[in-house]
Amino acid sequence: MKNITVIGVGYVGLVTGACFSDLGNRVIALDINEERIQNLAKGIMPIYEPGLAELVERNVRAGRLVFTTSYDEAIKDAEFVFIAVGTPEGVDGEADLQYVRMAAESVANVMDHPLIIINKSTVPVGTGDWVADIVRETQPSPVEFAVVSCPEFLREGSAIRDFMNPDRTVLGSEDTTAAERVAQLHLPLRAPIMVTDLRTAEMIKYASNAFLATRISFINEIANICEALGADVKEVARGMGYDKRIGHHFLEAGVGYGGSCFPKDVKALAHMAQVHGKHPQLLHAVMDINAYQRRHVLLKLHEHLDGLEGRTIALLGLAFKQDTDDMREAPSITIGDYLDEHGATVRGYDPAAMEWAKRAMPYLETAADPYELVKGADAVIVLTPWNEFKNLDMDRIKNAMRVPVMVDGRNLYDPAQMKAHGFTYSGIGRGD
Ligand code: NAD
Ligand code: UGA
Repeated sequence: MKNITVIGVGYVGLVTGACFSDLGNRVIALDINEERIQNLAKGIMPIYEPGLAELVERNVRAGRLVFTTSYDEAIKDAEFVFIAVGTPEGVDGEADLQYVRMAAESVANVMDHPLIIINKSTVPVGTGDWVADIVRETQPSPVEFAVVSCPEFLREGSAIRDFMNPDRTVLGSEDTTAAERVAQLHLPLRAPIMVTDLRTAEMIKYASNAFLATRISFINEIANICEALGADVKEVARGMGYDKRIGHHFLEAGVGYGGSCFPKDVKALAHMAQVHGKHPQLLHAVMDINAYQRRHVLLKLHEHLDGLEGRTIALLGLAFKQDTDDMREAPSITIGDYLDEHGATVRGYDPAAMEWAKRAMPYLETAADPYELVKGADAVIVLTPWNEFKNLDMDRIKNAMRVPVMVDGRNLYDPAQMKAHGFTYSGIGRGD
């Protein structure tokens, strides 16, 4: 049983804290957002993540997981301190490190015994050294510490499963003893543990996200070529994926990647490269293709509708992906904004993200379910591939619409079946 402190109770911090406590450690999770901490004490989760509420509740009840806003309390008995605060997009695509800086300063201010400070936030290469400098300069009197980079690879929507069953644990540090102690913490996860220097670990995280984003943009480009040539990208991806060197993952064509990570991380990596005089052409192509995919969906809508003024367009799914309520960089926002600016009424439904969607899209009319969503609509655009959308009563959907146009930005449905139901249907790269 180790004493672990996690700073930041967002998607990564809360999952990290809950999982480490479930592995039998004593965890204190800290956030500066008082409302989040008060709610967590009452069992109210700040985010929608399958299985998280139960995991938190179990470990709080067992006394292994505690929430606080006090750095004094959080650091008093800590051996390991995970920094898991946000690193959003800043100016010119550079990662904004203000929250990491604040967290490092706050830890340094109160630490009175040796600590291992672990960067779990996704941070630009070199941040580990920078954090070490901040801690050293801020400490009221010198206390020993080590900085270890431990990037997180979990996905929203399957965060607990991903955390508990990682493909690998990457640890970067100049202090091998500290890295070894952090490795011990991760042994119960039974994944390969790779220890490297700080900068390499930080780079592994960016390179991994950029590679996954590249696969998505690659298949989106192939999808657009498929449309011109009459091939079906879903089958193309399946055929490619059987090649073990390629694999099936992250080859789903659609409206482009969104979320709190791929968009900002690809940009931040490109920014880092440019600052050092490099020309990251591939990364720029990845971003351009991704931005185009949003427009591609809108162009399809224009093909089927003569003008948007006065139309009602239904958005089926609003979150950036299924099984999350996260609206950060969700394609629905770009598409909704465009429709609103062009005089359409924008109506939306999402099983989890309605509250955040209304904040991100003030013009949004909301619906209680997919059937209410499409009532009198001139078109429906599928934007999030939630399971519960897969078996909708398509006759009911079609009959409720004023004009049965469907643009399927996630290739959720079979084009032939949708046409048989009487829809004017268009997927992404489906040979039409
Ligand atoms: P988030 O926005 O959901 O949560 C961040 C939390 O940190 C917030 O609750 C905020 O109040 C808190 N915070 C900010 N400054 C603080 C401070 N000084 N002290 C204490 N708490 C503070 O962020 P997230 O999505 O969990 O991402 C965190 C980091 O992990 C980012 O760097 C992100 O790139 C990376 N990451 C995210 C995911 C993901 O799926 N979301 C996966 C892997 C890595
Ligand atoms: C992604 C990575 O998968 C995680 O490994 C990483 O830890 C995380 O970013 C991060 O650094 O924050 P996440 O953004 O939660 O996780 O979700 P993904 O499942 O990767 O999806 C990202 C976006 O790509 C979504 O908009 C999704 O719909 C889209 N996507 C994904 C596609 O368009 N096609 C695909 O084949 C796969």
